[in-house]
Amino acid sequence: MSEMIEKRNMYKDIEDEMLLTKEQIAKRVREMGAQITKDFAGKDLTVICILKGAVVFFVDLIREIDLPMSLDFMAISSYGSATKSSGVVRILKDLDKPINGRHVLVVEDIVDSGMTLSFLKENLLSRGAASLHIVTLLDKPERRRVPLKADYYGFTIPDAFVVGYGLDYDELYRNLPDIGILKPEVYEK
Ligand code: IMP
Ligand code: MG
Repeated sequence: MSEMIEKRNMYKDIEDEMLLTKEQIAKRVREMGAQITKDFAGKDLTVICILKGAVVFFVDLIREIDLPMSLDFMAISSYGSATKSSGVVRILKDLDKPINGRHVLVVEDIVDSGMTLSFLKENLLSRGAASLHIVTLLDKPERRRVPLKADYYGFTIPDAFVVGYGLDYDELYRNLPDIGILKPEVYEK
């Protein structure tokens, strides 16, 4: 019964075979948190969430990192269509605190063309961080337009438009617990 209710709501727009289930995601997030805990031991860590897409990943990941840390938030928008970014990035909300001398970990949802993160990387490095590392849950390497490497990757995925676990299409589906491929008819109409 509950399955049918889900199908009628958010899940009806998602391809039947789920790309990543919430269990697969949780397992990988635990592994990433453990690795980051090892790598950043003893460092003054600031973890930055890139709003809004990374928010679900961020709240799960920080609870898997067993280190003292400051949290900060940055909201950016990249101009473009709903399914493709143009690389022209605008800061909608900047960090609350300076990051000079801090070891910074940027948490993103997905690296697609790489343009958003290459802009951010340059922007944050110019503020005098002691180090800057990028963690992304998803990577779509086939679509890269600028050379951008993250330091920590959750999953490599094929070239398809995905939603859920924070990722949206036109602001919808962020609250889906799993990650699925959006049926093309949803954005092609
Ligand atoms: P990039 O600048 O092309 O690397 O785009 C990165 C941003 O585009 C991400 O932070 C997402 O907000 C968005 N994005 C790219 N691919 C997808 C997708 O498959 N689903 C949802 N959002 C996506
Ligand atoms: Mg988005």
